Amino acid sequence: MALVTDTLLLSSPHSTHQKCSKMSNQLLYANFMLAFYLLCHYALPQTDNFSLPLKAVNLGNWLVIEGWMKPSLFDGITNKDLLDGTQVQFMSTKLQKYLCAEHGGGSVVVANRTRPSGWETFRLWRVNETAFNFRVSSKQFVRLENQVEGNNLFADSDSPSDMETFEILRNDDDPNRVRIRAPNGQFLQTISETVVLANYEGSGWDDSDPSVFKMNVLTSNTIRGEFQITNGYGPDKAPKIMRDHWNTYITEDDFKFMSENGLNAVRIPVGWWTAQDPTPPKPFVGGSLEVLDNAFTWAEKYGIKVIVDLHAAPGSQNGRPHSASRDGYLEWGDSYISDTVAAIDFLAERYANRAGLVAIELMNEPQGVNLQSLKSYYQAGYNAVRKHTPSAYVIMSNPLDRDSKVLLSWAQAFSGVVVDVHYYNLFSDRFSNMNVQQNIDYIKNQRASDISSLTTSDGPLIFVGEWSGDWKVQKASKEDHQKFMQAQVEVYSRAKFGWAYWAYKCDSNFWSIKWMIENNYIKL
Ligand SMILES: *[C@@H]1O[C@H](CO)[C@@H](O)[C@H](O)[C@H]1NC(C)=O
Ligand SMILES: *[C@@H]1O[C@H](CO)[C@@H](O)[C@H](O)[C@H]1NC(C)=O
Ligand SMILES: *[C@@H]1O[C@H](CO)[C@@H](O)[C@H](O)[C@H]1NC(C)=O
Repeated sequence: MALVTDTLLLSSPHSTHQKCSKMSNQLLYANFMLAFYLLCHYALPQTDNFSLPLKAVNLGNWLVIEGWMKPSLFDGITNKDLLDGTQVQFMSTKLQKYLCAEHGGGSVVVANRTRPSGWETFRLWRVNETAFNFRVSSKQFVRLENQVEGNNLFADSDSPSDMETFEILRNDDDPNRVRIRAPNGQFLQTISETVVLANYEGSGWDDSDPSVFKMNVLTSNTIRGEFQITNGYGPDKAPKIMRDHWNTYITEDDFKFMSENGLNAVRIPVGWWTAQDPTPPKPFVGGSLEVLDNAFTWAEKYGIKVIVDLHAAPGSQNGRPHSASRDGYLEWGDSYISDTVAAIDFLAERYANRAGLVAIELMNEPQGVNLQSLKSYYQAGYNAVRKHTPSAYVIMSNPLDRDSKVLLSWAQAFSGVVVDVHYYNLFSDRFSNMNVQQNIDYIKNQRASDISSLTTSDGPLIFVGEWSGDWKVQKASKEDHQKFMQAQVEVYSRAKFGWAYWAYKCDSNFWSIKWMIENNYIKL
């Protein structure tokens, strides 16, 4: 409503006198519009008989990409094994020694290491499909010293620009045999183990060539998230790829399916850049906000409630691909709080008056962040939501690396607050050798007791905001899966705010509640 009023008042180009009478007319009009709006709003049939606990599903890999859920999204990227955050090591074929950022950074680059480890590992920041910055373990970047000084390389730059941009040229027959072109147009060469210079003009590929390196790509550490896909396709191709994905991955039919199959809410992961739509900073692509608007419209039509979940906070709150981390480093902290609050403020303002809104989640799965910083942020984020709505719940994600009670007594000070815990029988050795019954018992005993110990009469509500039917059991029957699903639904329904399955759709069937429902693994 504020928008309607403002537009009307601001659009008067007339003299003061005219403006006054015009303004009172406009105010009348605005009031009329307000009354009309409220009338429509409240006269709308309430298709959403909403009650807790929620039976929700995460619309994962929609507005925040998680490559593992649909790897083919990345197929059209040139050099798709060299996306942002990829960790590489370079062994000189001539010396049989690895390039090394001495001391992990802040110093010279040498080539005297026999075995590669942290100092010999470079994280790529992709500039285009062949050009990259190399980030070292001190988080600094490799740079070419200016030509007056010489052609040495130092890993001591705090921000990458032209002098930190290197091209990786791959051999046609063996893509992991490379030469590296420095910003001066010349190739790196190993003069000796301690002298690496960018002054080579030859073009050979022999082992004896001092400019040839064998590149190890550490494939077990690859990151496939929103940053990698958008920057990987680049500014020309990414917008179409992303919009096609948004418009096809989840559609109105899916909301219909949910409402017909016992689900009554969605948790929608969004990234901080959505709050800067339609012109988010590069490489992110504009248009996601309209998609989120559509989700609200569909949700309201089918009586589904919406949790807006800030899954990717600026700077990355956990270094994971799903936080849209560029290179796996966690950077979120005090200096990012105001930007993160601004994103929440924007989302709360935009959706506060939508009938579909049930909650805003301030951040997903912080891990490794300072607890005091997190609490300061949760406090400020809570205030930002409350500025716009007294009724929407505010969800605080429990830090993954802390006890599930860590926020509990502190959160009592707020009203309408929910603590979100994520339960997977995965990601920990304790589940590696559990059989079917042990997995089910774990749900019925440990998970049930965790939920009951978190549930207090005056504390925050508890929400199992992520769980799935996947487990470490190798040969399980359909009936085993059904029992495991059933046990989880039963126990997680004891969480007062409810639960949300991860996810709605996924290439891996057990992570897709749509597939699980369609194939009779679960009936809600
Ligand atoms: C909502 O609840 C009202 C009153 O209990 C009922 O008449 C109506 O049919 C319900 N609507 C839906 C969509 O369930
Ligand atoms: C590699 O070279 C650097 C710089 O000269 C030197 O400080 C370091 O000790 C050398 N390391 C090895 C393993 O030779
Ligand atoms: C990539 O960037 C490098 C360095 O800025 C430039 O020389 C090269 O032409 C660019 N390549 C493409 C395909 O844009």
